[in-house]
Amino acid sequence: MDLNILREEAGKKLGEKRFKHVLGCEKESEKLAKHWGANPCDARAAALLHDITKENDREEQLKFCENHCIIIGDIEKTEWKLLHAITAAELSRSVYNMPVDICEAVRYHTTGKENMTLLQKILYLADFIEPTRDFLGVVKLRRLAYRNLSDAMLYAFNCSIKDIMERDRVLHPDTVSGRNWILKEEIRK
Ligand SMILES: [Fe+2]
Ligand SMILES: [Fe+2]
Repeated sequence: MDLNILREEAGKKLGEKRFKHVLGCEKESEKLAKHWGANPCDARAAALLHDITKENDREEQLKFCENHCIIIGDIEKTEWKLLHAITAAELSRSVYNMPVDICEAVRYHTTGKENMTLLQKILYLADFIEPTRDFLGVVKLRRLAYRNLSDAMLYAFNCSIKDIMERDRVLHPDTVSGRNWILKEEIRK
């Protein structure tokens, strides 16, 4: 897989600020992968592709889903910004020929889910803690991400859920089940 091509594609499709976020994510994913024993190249590819369709508008997202026979869930119909994870995963598979584990990491980078793989956790966390990110709790999450993956995931899920509540948005069930899974299966086992 040619990371330079993926980086060029992201640069073409994204504005400056989001491209910087993606480059930050690439570096952070690589660091996390080396730290936790995942494949750094896979982690970088997933990071470069994760927001590749993020700047597509609602119409473009819906059209893409229709063209690729993707059935949109009830929540994504209203929370249409969640669609970028689904369309980016499909693009990763069909256009960039990425292996399934990379596509799945891209697919769940926004909501998280139950039974996440190491690569999925790495992208989920890198998206939160890459160097351009700035939110209350980011310093703590950066520390946790290199100390204890399960604690970091729980903290990230909690930050995400609090943010969704504060903005009065619909909470995706995958986020709730991901958070409960981490708490029940990964922390208290
Ligand atoms: Fe995203
Ligand atoms: Fe992102």
